[in-house]
Amino acid sequence: MVGLNEKEEALVKESWEVMKHNIPHLSLRFFTLILEIAPAAKKMFSFLKDTDEIPQNNPKLKAHAVKVFKMTCESAIQLGEKGEVVVADTTLKWLGSVHLQNGVIDPHFEVVKEALLRTVKEAMGEKWSDEMNGAWAEAYDHLATAIKNEMHAEA
Ligand code: HEM
Repeated sequence: MVGLNEKEEALVKESWEVMKHNIPHLSLRFFTLILEIAPAAKKMFSFLKDTDEIPQNNPKLKAHAVKVFKMTCESAIQLGEKGEVVVADTTLKWLGSVHLQNGVIDPHFEVVKEALLRTVKEAMGEKWSDEMNGAWAEAYDHLATAIKNEMHAEA
């Protein structure tokens, strides 16, 4: 399995440092992009299904966005340091069952990936680069694979 080189790890860390100061906006943007790419995803999220608009400052919406950003960033750091992604067993089991119970299937992970990469690109503006994009993509793929494997194991 390929990890991330030091530069790629640094690029993800550097972009998270910028992004974390703008969580309310970026969370909203992330979910707007998810629904643009896959409108049907709306009915899956408890905080979206009964509303016509994406709610601003909704704690659950923010929590999911931040989890995806932050865990992808942690995954990048681990891929840089150890060459693999390690999520505590209990956390991975929990993540697997939460997603299974909410009707998430493998192709949804591609939608979230696309939305994540576009959010990073918009957030970083001129500081964005192909290499930065590739590093986030790699880190996300490893994390998503770990969650999907757990979902398959449980299904
Ligand atoms: C819930 C993380 C990808 C849909 C959650 C929760 C976490 C999480 C931690 C539990 C939130 C809580 O109850 O505190 C992640 C990570 C992902 C990922 C790290 C990718 C690496 C996805 C994808 C989908 C999805 C691809 C499908 C569109 C959901 C839904 C819930 C959930 C529907 C329940 C939210 C609710 O209504 O409260 N996710 N997720 N997630 N996730 Fe994800």
